[in-house]
Amino acid sequence: MKRRTGPSVSLFHGGSAGRGDSPLYRETYRRIRAIILDGTVCAGDRLPSARAMAQDLRVSRNTIEAAFGQLRSEGYVERRVGSGTFVSGNVPKVPQVSRRRPAKVPGIAATIVAHSREKGLRALSRRGRESSAPPPDVAADTDASFGVCRPGLDLFPTQLWNRIAARRMRRSMGDLLDEQSPNGLASLRTAIASYLRLARGVRCSPEQIVVVTSTQQAIDLVARLLVDAGDKVWLEEPCYTGARYAFAAAGARIVPVPVDVAGMDVDRGAARDPRARLAYVTPSHQFPLGVTMTLERRLALIRWANSANSWILEDDYDSELRYDGRPLAALQGIDDSERVLYVGTFNKIMFPSLRLAYLVVPPDLVEPVTSARRWMDGYTTALNQAVMADFVHDGHFGTHVRAMREAYRERRDALQEAVATYVPQHVRLGARDGGMHVVGWLPKRANAPALAERCARRGLYLRDVAGYYAGRPPGPGLVLNFASAPPNRIARGVRVLGQELGVK
Ligand SMILES: Cc1ncc(COP(=O)(O)O)c(C=O)c1O
Repeated sequence: MKRRTGPSVSLFHGGSAGRGDSPLYRETYRRIRAIILDGTVCAGDRLPSARAMAQDLRVSRNTIEAAFGQLRSEGYVERRVGSGTFVSGNVPKVPQVSRRRPAKVPGIAATIVAHSREKGLRALSRRGRESSAPPPDVAADTDASFGVCRPGLDLFPTQLWNRIAARRMRRSMGDLLDEQSPNGLASLRTAIASYLRLARGVRCSPEQIVVVTSTQQAIDLVARLLVDAGDKVWLEEPCYTGARYAFAAAGARIVPVPVDVAGMDVDRGAARDPRARLAYVTPSHQFPLGVTMTLERRLALIRWANSANSWILEDDYDSELRYDGRPLAALQGIDDSERVLYVGTFNKIMFPSLRLAYLVVPPDLVEPVTSARRWMDGYTTALNQAVMADFVHDGHFGTHVRAMREAYRERRDALQEAVATYVPQHVRLGARDGGMHVVGWLPKRANAPALAERCARRGLYLRDVAGYYAGRPPGPGLVLNFASAPPNRIARGVRVLGQELGVK
């Protein structure tokens, strides 16, 4: 059977399909096999029907059938009469070459994933659909020098951490084996409270702290407890994606409130929707623009919350990392009306898999938040909490924060320098006096998603800033992380970006 002509070749962009020496079915077979081998689809997953795939990919059904036939004869898939084609539970040993990288076949991978997702989605509740938005595609094998949320793991004092963990296990592993309190270990809550009071001006006692696994979990808890379906919630525009998903999953109606150089524009929020139930903000270091909310705006936000009888959720996710000027204390510290819930995390300043963050709530909310946490997942792993508490009590946390601040400042400077050297006319850096990333604004006509995709193929992971906007961004831009790679890799990355931008 002849395959259709025309657009069929486009599905293989980046690949070699359609070359005269490789029949299309064989190319299709190779690429589906690659998707199975790299784990994009797993044992037991159902592949789309040959008819659906043929339609989506604009090739003949026979091409897909032939590819399936080959995969079946080699044991990669099983065909069950009346049910379809499934990834085999017994995938043969991997030829080394296929393991190296995820398949570079956006057409096929996207088709397969979209089909299985669509089928799964039909089974879900409305809330389930909102809760299961797929995460942005983080390519596992890019060198991730610029991966948005990645800290510099090369700088982490692993040996010290291991020593403290070993000591803790020797001394009190028995106690840590038993059930724990849902609001967290007392020793860690005490350490967090004194750190927050001193370093961030947060007004709190250890009793007001609930240790959670992540900022994401804290936002989710707050959304469940304080927001009813249909309630309006102000989100910064642009906004941290995790917050958007959590509030959408709670059924909130999202009100995007523009952010300018002074942070969230409270007047515009009030003009748009004065009666929102809650406002989520990142005042120390707006995500992703990096601006700091001025004192005037902070006071305006608190005034608005008082007049509208609303809550404020302050996400202070990377406040430790300030390179120029003095940081403003937390918004929570200037609120006399107990309307601010404050969340901070150790997952960025320490390491992402630590899974430790903290929520500070007004006294009246301690009991409900603690109970909700119990019904959610109990509590956070006690060993990590205990080791973290020791790390703070022994004075290592302060030393670590200072060391990271110094190293990240150097990396931030390296990024600035590389931009000035390689792409001075093409990339304009946004606010960058803190945190781990900066937005690189591109010339008006640049195609940021296409550029990001080309860079990803060369191992550079740069996220399109448009993904953080509910509406249209002011222009094309990419988020550049400078924390996770040493200065020489940063320079190399910016050179690659320049090449992809066509800079001579
Ligand atoms: C604004 C903001 N809050 C929170 C987080 C993540 O924190 P956690 O890992 O504790 O959920 C991120 C991650 O990048 C972030 O950008």
